[in-house]
Amino acid sequence: MKKLNFRKLLLFYGSFVLIITSGMVYQGCSELDNSVTLAPEIRTHLVGWSNPSSANFHGIYIRTNNWNLSGCKTCHGGDYSGGTSGASCLGCHNGSGGPESCNLCHGNSQHIYPPKSLNNDSLETDRGVGVHDHHLNPNTNVRYSAQVRCVSCHKTVNSFSDPVHIQNTNNTATIFFDSLALNVLPGDTIVPNPVYDPVTNKCSNVYCHGNFKNGNRGFEPVFNNPESVVCGSCHGNATTGNPTPGTNGNILPPHYSFMTSQTCYICHGSVINSQGQIFNQNLHLNGVINY
Ligand code: HEC
Ligand code: HEC
Ligand code: HEC
Ligand code: HEC
Ligand code: HEC
Ligand code: HEC
Repeated sequence: MKKLNFRKLLLFYGSFVLIITSGMVYQGCSELDNSVTLAPEIRTHLVGWSNPSSANFHGIYIRTNNWNLSGCKTCHGGDYSGGTSGASCLGCHNGSGGPESCNLCHGNSQHIYPPKSLNNDSLETDRGVGVHDHHLNPNTNVRYSAQVRCVSCHKTVNSFSDPVHIQNTNNTATIFFDSLALNVLPGDTIVPNPVYDPVTNKCSNVYCHGNFKNGNRGFEPVFNNPESVVCGSCHGNATTGNPTPGTNGNILPPHYSFMTSQTCYICHGSVINSQGQIFNQNLHLNGVINY
């Protein structure tokens, strides 16, 4: 009984103290409020944060801060639907994955490979764009060859937060060659050691561009120069455009120096026609000689 009374007393005086202190705080706040009305409006983000043409645009901020979205999640929620901020990213970023959607930072509405590049570039001569399209476009008119997959030149990216995804700090990708670039034709002994040089943008020692039996092993195509690859670059003579394979003009049977692209069909008729046009791209550069 005594204990209860004591608690009641505590409660009484306790609430009394609370009322007084909150009164004091309220007083302090109203004083602060008066000064705030004179100061500029306080915002969470800089002016222009939602405006793509502003230097303060959030896209530019993200691009120059190593593409890190985890900070945004602390306020906008792990699924970007608003979180404690109450402002959702998904109204504007309504693609699958919201701001993690695979074509937001690179690619476009058709595909996830560049263009556009990370720096928003779109020309084939731009370093980050290059000839992705000639390797990857599903339309066979754009390609000489079978459709190349991302994993032939990059590591497999399974999700936005995959550890092999964003690793560099300079807005470039990591090049990693898989089995196609390392392919060895039957009867050949040289295993290619493919290399990409990020300064000159050249590929060297790749199976695909000539490092195979009777191919032009030393040929180095430039990723952002579409003209660096013609018929004859990878096998045959790039100057004349004749694709008959042979090392330094040394053509060995079953090929002969009198052959032209109009004669290949006699033996390689599943790939090329009598006009010298490759009609079955899927069999050209698939790692197998079709004859
Ligand atoms: C400290 C918490 C916090 C962090 C961190 C944060 N935001 Fe916000 N953000 C808010 C709040 C609160 C609002 C709504 C009020 C406002 O606009 O100031 C908002 C609004 C926005 C808006 C405007 C929304 C609209 O509907 O117009 C965008 C865009 C935005 N944030 C993007 C980002 C991005 C991108 C990041 C990470 C780089 C980020 N925010 C990090 C709290 C945060
Ligand atoms: C917020 C921006 C952003 C989003 C969203 C994004 N990426 Fe990337 N992606 C990058 C950056 C930055 C690089 C360059 C990576 C590096 O540092 O190597 C990159 C590179 C890549 C590469 C080249 C290989 C590599 O890691 O360098 C592939 C493949 C790729 N992304 C696939 C995807 C896929 C698949 C998704 C969707 C699940 C996705 N990306 C979503 C920014 C993004
Ligand atoms: C008011 C609309 C709006 C809201 C809200 C919004 N964004 Fe964006 N965001 C854009 C626009 C517009 C772009 C530029 C789109 C483009 O380049 O295709 C963009 C671009 C981006 C990019 C790509 C940057 C680049 O350079 O490629 C990322 C990443 C991004 N936003 C993340 C977020 C995140 C995270 C949130 C929520 C915290 C958010 N955005 C909220 C409109 C918005
Ligand atoms: C034939 C090889 C090849 C294939 C196939 C390929 N890439 Fe690339 N990719 C490159 C090269 C080379 C670069 C330039 C490397 C650099 O960033 O310095 C690059 C760069 C990139 C970049 C960074 C762009 C920038 O702004 O620097 C992204 C993102 C990318 N690739 C995504 C993809 C995706 C996604 C796929 C598959 C849909 C793909 N790539 C297929 C060779 C390839
Ligand atoms: C008389 C039949 C015949 C004709 C015509 C022919 N090829 Fe071949 N080609 C072959 C055979 C057979 C092989 C496989 C040789 C081997 O496995 O040793 C081959 C292999 C190749 C290879 C792989 C590299 C090599 O030398 O083994 C290439 C590239 C090639 N042919 C391109 C061509 C082109 C381009 C033409 C037309 C200019 C052509 N061929 C005309 C029969 C022919
Ligand atoms: C990017 C390098 C490259 C270019 C350019 C190229 N080829 Fe080839 N070609 C190859 C490779 C590699 C092979 C070896 C077989 C394979 O992997 O399909 C090959 C094989 C062939 C073959 C043998 C049939 C087969 O298996 O595919 C013919 C025919 C041929 N090429 C014709 C041509 C003609 C005609 C052109 C020009 C229009 C041309 N090539 C341009 C890389 C190239």
